[in-house]
Amino acid sequence: MSKICERMHAETEDITKIILQAAEKARAETSSEPEPGLTGKIKWPIECTVGPGLEGAIACSTKIGYVNGAKGWLIYQGYDIFDLCAHSTFEEVSYLLLHGHLPNKEQLDEFCAKLRSFLHIPHTLRTVMNLPLEQLNPMAALRFGANLMRQRLTWRDNESARPSPESAIYTDEDSIPMETKPMGEEHAIYEFRKKKRQRPKDARKNADDASDIESCMHLIAGMSSLTAAIKRIREDRLPIEPDPTLSHAGNLLYMMSGKRPSPEEERLMDVSLILHADHGMNASTFAALVVASTMSDIYFSVGAGIAALNGPLHGGANEQVIKLLEEIGSPKNVDVWFDKAASEKRRVMGFGHRVYKAYDPRARILGPLADYVTSKSGSKRAKTLLATAKKLEKKVATTLGKEKKIFPNVDYYSGLVYESMGIPQDIFTPLFAVSRVSGWTARILEYIAYNRIFRPRALYVGEFDKKYVALNKR
Ligand code: ACO
Repeated sequence: MSKICERMHAETEDITKIILQAAEKARAETSSEPEPGLTGKIKWPIECTVGPGLEGAIACSTKIGYVNGAKGWLIYQGYDIFDLCAHSTFEEVSYLLLHGHLPNKEQLDEFCAKLRSFLHIPHTLRTVMNLPLEQLNPMAALRFGANLMRQRLTWRDNESARPSPESAIYTDEDSIPMETKPMGEEHAIYEFRKKKRQRPKDARKNADDASDIESCMHLIAGMSSLTAAIKRIREDRLPIEPDPTLSHAGNLLYMMSGKRPSPEEERLMDVSLILHADHGMNASTFAALVVASTMSDIYFSVGAGIAALNGPLHGGANEQVIKLLEEIGSPKNVDVWFDKAASEKRRVMGFGHRVYKAYDPRARILGPLADYVTSKSGSKRAKTLLATAKKLEKKVATTLGKEKKIFPNVDYYSGLVYESMGIPQDIFTPLFAVSRVSGWTARILEYIAYNRIFRPRALYVGEFDKKYVALNKR
């Protein structure tokens, strides 16, 4: 672990304890569940039962992560999510997902240093700052930002025909004032480096940029800087430079608020980033892989992931949960609200999952962490929201939980953690993307190494043999 992260862990033992307790509870409750299925080597083609929405379909083999829905297990590259949350950091987990093994000290230091350097995306931010962000959904802005980042570090285009990435983005930026260190909010201006970035020595000639691990790191860092900048610009404030003495999670918070986070805040964000980093063949990962499988590039692929994540049935649910709790208003209204919602067959946001038919391990961690942060620093409003959420969870457990194995998912408590940390609702889903970009990029690298374009079929239920009728006869 890097020195910065060691300090963060040492000062947040309470949080480690909460995670270890959640792990113990999970192991005790799920040990009797069936052993994992669908693991190990298979020989293509395989037979499996497929439902609408490709339910049950197996699209590829992977070593990156595994979700056992019956047991409520989540594994990244062989490591249990509880262990990673208790002992690791987002930087280490991102390395693990991309490289397949935990880094040694030198590898981690190098990875962190590079990630920190990639937090500087002044050219992209300059364009983003010109967007009418107040009128734009932050996820739309993030998606746009991901595509804009493609200007740098991409060599997919024909070598001789493409303009130099430097000349394409340095056209008029030399006139922007230079500032090497952040000088506080009022003076925060991005440094536009004059030094030209060299193509890394190990870049393969004619290599597709999706195979370039630097692009993955560029995107992992960039999502963080973009999200922080989008938040600030929407508040009529300027983006600020990252602080090299902070971890990735710490910098994300710092770049959003302009204040150095407390060790607890830094650790909470770090745990949340670890928890959201990967999750099997979910909708956004699949969307990113579909785009990558056409040999489009990794920036467009991540853009597709962001678009899919935005939906309220997927990552967008974290924001919807808070709206739902606001609508309920207080714990005493839960029963009446739930009965009415059930009679209208309304979905309860933050509950249910295609894969988990057991308690989502991510919610097992985020639930107690929401308790921890809300009791420590939550506003009166955050406390009411959390009390309402806990009452609603009990209600759902005795109804949908019993009947249909519907439990809270990752989105149920994540927003409540962010709420108590003072993060605005419309930034919850972008925060999901800040983390999931590690899983998207790792899976893209893995998939395109043995690429086969995604091309499922649809069952035609339309008619045949219709006679064309001329327009004037219809
Ligand atoms: N509230 C009430 N009932 C539900 C819920 C819910 N949240 N989720 C599923 N059900 C019910 C369905 O109505 C269905 O009932 P039926 O069999 O009587 O028709 C049954 O449970 C099975 O539901 P499906 O739609 O088949 O489940 P599916 O796997 O397709 O959907 C999904 C999963 C989309 C996540 C769903 O549970 C849902 O809409 N949840 C709310 C939104 C949400 O929290 N999304 C975040 C998921 S986590 C993530 O993506 C990061």
